[in-house]
Parts: sequence; C-alpha cells; structure tokens
Amino acid sequence: MTTTSTVLVTGAGGLLGTATVPRLTANGYGVRPMSRSARPGWVTADLRTGKGLADAVRGADAVVHLASSPRGARRTDVAGTRRLLAAARAAGVKHLLFVSIVGVDRVPLPYFRAKLAVERDIARSGVPFTILRSAQFHPFAEDLLAASARLGPLLIDPAFLAQPVDVGDVADRIAALLAGPADGRTVEFAGPRVLTFGEAAATWLAARGDRRRVVRMRLPGRSARSIRDGGLTTTAAPTGTRTWEDYLAAEY
Ligand SMILES: NC(=O)c1ccc[n+]([C@@H]2O[C@H](COP(=O)([O-])OP(=O)(O)OC[C@H]3O[C@@H](n4cnc5c(N)ncnc54)[C@H](OP(=O)(O)O)[C@@H]3O)[C@@H](O)[C@H]2O)c1
Repeated sequence: MTTTSTVLVTGAGGLLGTATVPRLTANGYGVRPMSRSARPGWVTADLRTGKGLADAVRGADAVVHLASSPRGARRTDVAGTRRLLAAARAAGVKHLLFVSIVGVDRVPLPYFRAKLAVERDIARSGVPFTILRSAQFHPFAEDLLAASARLGPLLIDPAFLAQPVDVGDVADRIAALLAGPADGRTVEFAGPRVLTFGEAAATWLAARGDRRRVVRMRLPGRSARSIRDGGLTTTAAPTGTRTWEDYLAAEY
C-alpha cells in the first residue's frame, strides 16, 4: 500500500485504534477513522446493522479492521465482518488488515472461536488480506488483574502464561504490515517476554503498593489448560520492545 492511499480504520476510537490512527497519518496515508458515533472528520457506520458501511468503505484502498465487541462477537465481529468484506469487495479494496489474537486456534474461549471464524471468512473472501494475531495489550492485562481483584483478594491461576504487548508496538507492526504486500499471511506478534500470571500479578501489586492477599488456584477446563500450556504466547519474531515492567513504571 503506498503511503498516499486512503485507509479506513474500523474501531479507530478504541485502545489500539487510538494508537494506530496517528501513526498511519504520520506515514502519509489518508486516514478515514470509523465509529458508530458521529465525530467531525470521521465516518459513521455500524457493523452490527450495516448502516453506513458501504459509504464508509467506498473509495478506500485499504481497511485496517480493529472494531470488535467481545460480548456480542457473533453479531458484531462475525456477521459484521461479513458485511464489511462484502462492502470491501464491492469497493475494490486492495488490502484488508485484520487484528486477531494469538491463540485463537488453540484456546477454545467463545470470543476466540468467533475471531477464528472471522479469520476464515476473510481468507475465503477474495479480498487481499493480512492477519495480525496480537497478544494481550498491557492495559487489557491490567484490567484482567483488576477484575480478578474486585472481590478483595486477587484470585489468579499463577501458572497461566501471557506475553503482554505494548499497544504502540502493535500499532507500529500494523503500519509496517500495511506498507507490505497483502499476501494472505497470518503473523503473530507479542511482547518481549513470557510471564506467568503469578509474576505479572506480583509486579502489578508491587507497582501499586498494593498489599492485598493473593489467592492462587488452578482453574479447570480446556481453555485454562491451554493457557497454562502457553496458548496465549508465541515464539514469533520480531516482538514488541516495551515490557510489562516498563508499562507499570510509566503508569505508577
Ligand atoms: N485488547 C487486547 O488486549 C487485544 C489483544 C489482541 C487483539 N485484540 C484485538 O484488537 C482489536 C482492537 O482491540 P481494542 O482493545 O482496541 O478494542 P476496543 O478498545 O474495545 O475498541 C473496539 C472498537 O470497536 C468499535 N465497535 C464496537 N462495536 C462496533 C460496531 N457494531 N460497529 C462498528 N464499530 C464497533 C468501537 O468503536 P465505537 O464505539 O467508536 O463505535 C470500539 O472503539 C480487536 O479486534 C481485538 O480483538 C485486542
């Protein structure tokens, strides 16, 4: 994709979109951010209903597809992406870059299954594509820990493995892949180090000066087993550069 191209970015106001839009703009693309809410200079469209989608995609050379709704993934991610693909085909989009998750093919969580179904639809769509499977972003990993502490003590499976990644590093990887060919590759990307949840939790609590009790347990089920076996991690290179500790140092 040449840097003079027009790029539609779905989910542009989300965590990753907020980091991605300025990078693509700085690289010279004509960036067209998309949201369900009307914002000056943005296009308004809803994947769930299809409203506004054809107009949003028309004239775009590329689509960076970041919009997602984990709690309504069948309707928004799966059905919504099918609508987006139909619009992209009609508009002659030359590169669709989809951000998926490391482990969608290994960890049988419902959201992951939905993302895998989206990947398959993209591969069959006829629209030239790249899939970037990212590991968990640092703020998301922190949200998970905070949610696990909402009853008071921090409840974790300390043997879970994660490889959290900096959102800015993911945005840089998106920019690099968008500049390359749409050759139907699936690329994994994660942070520089694999951590156990036990380590991630200990460093998080220490950074916050939080002395709450940690309750360690072994979670049952296939997804939990897969996460203990490294289902959310990858040996792919390059990795992001910013560590979980760097993130915590900047936050606290
Ligand atoms: N968070 C992580 O740790 C992580 C890790 C790996 C991969 N990913 C993937 O990276 C992508 C971006 O994640 P994120 O954390 O940046 O997500 P996010 O902050 O939750 O943002 C998602 C965006 O999706 C848009 N959206 C939701 N429903 C929509 C609909 N019906 N129609 C159009 N847009 C809709 C929302 O935009 P508006 O509200 O403005 O409409 C929202 O800004 C997702 O595909 C996610 O699966 C995330």
